[in-house]
Amino acid sequence: MKKILFINSCIREESRTFQIADYILKHIKEEHSLEVIDLNTLKLEAYNQKLFYNLFYLSMPNPFIEYAKKIKEADIVFIAAPFYDMGIPALLRVFFERCSLNGITFTDTGKTCTGLCNNTKMFFVTTRGMDISDGSTLEQATPYLKALCSLWGLKDFRYISAYNLDYLSSNEVNKRIKEASIKGSELFNSYLLD
Ligand SMILES: Cc1cc2nc3c(=O)[nH]c(=O)nc-3n(C[C@H](O)[C@H](O)[C@H](O)COP(=O)(O)O)c2cc1C
Repeated sequence: MKKILFINSCIREESRTFQIADYILKHIKEEHSLEVIDLNTLKLEAYNQKLFYNLFYLSMPNPFIEYAKKIKEADIVFIAAPFYDMGIPALLRVFFERCSLNGITFTDTGKTCTGLCNNTKMFFVTTRGMDISDGSTLEQATPYLKALCSLWGLKDFRYISAYNLDYLSSNEVNKRIKEASIKGSELFNSYLLD
């Protein structure tokens, strides 16, 4: 049994990204444990002078220590997020920034940083409005996530996308969502077995 940590960074109620992620989660073939973190429900404050001082100089309680530990302890961190401003939504970016904690997700060797999440893999589901295909230099969500996986020492990264969704007919959009759901489900089930 694997530990799946689902980080939901879908923002719109009618989110197409969430539809794909939800299909994948509902079609997991074997029994695994699932924990959900919905970023819409968290108080996600980005670092600013006061917050930084309180956390790192006054050692005030930091609720993100618990989330960082959950990431480290998960077998698969499953992220669902739409494509915003050529990358990931700020909501998710702030969550990662707050979870990137020395001694939990990575450690500082004195010469460089090395990851501590060596048993965790990442799976990412996204949808893009424009006609930006996987691998395009305009697509800056997956390069960022891969770099983060490297910082935290995650052992693998895979993803599924659907794109051009804001400019196709509703029939075409539905077709792309269905294709991504089915392909994503196959990919995720095989990823769980690796
Ligand atoms: C704030 C915002 C920023 C966006 N930025 C981009 C963008 O830079 N490039 C793009 O292709 N689509 C962009 N989009 C369109 C979304 O990526 C697209 O509609 C996506 O399918 C939304 O996902 P959802 O249905 O899960 O909400 C943006 C949408 C919003 C609301």
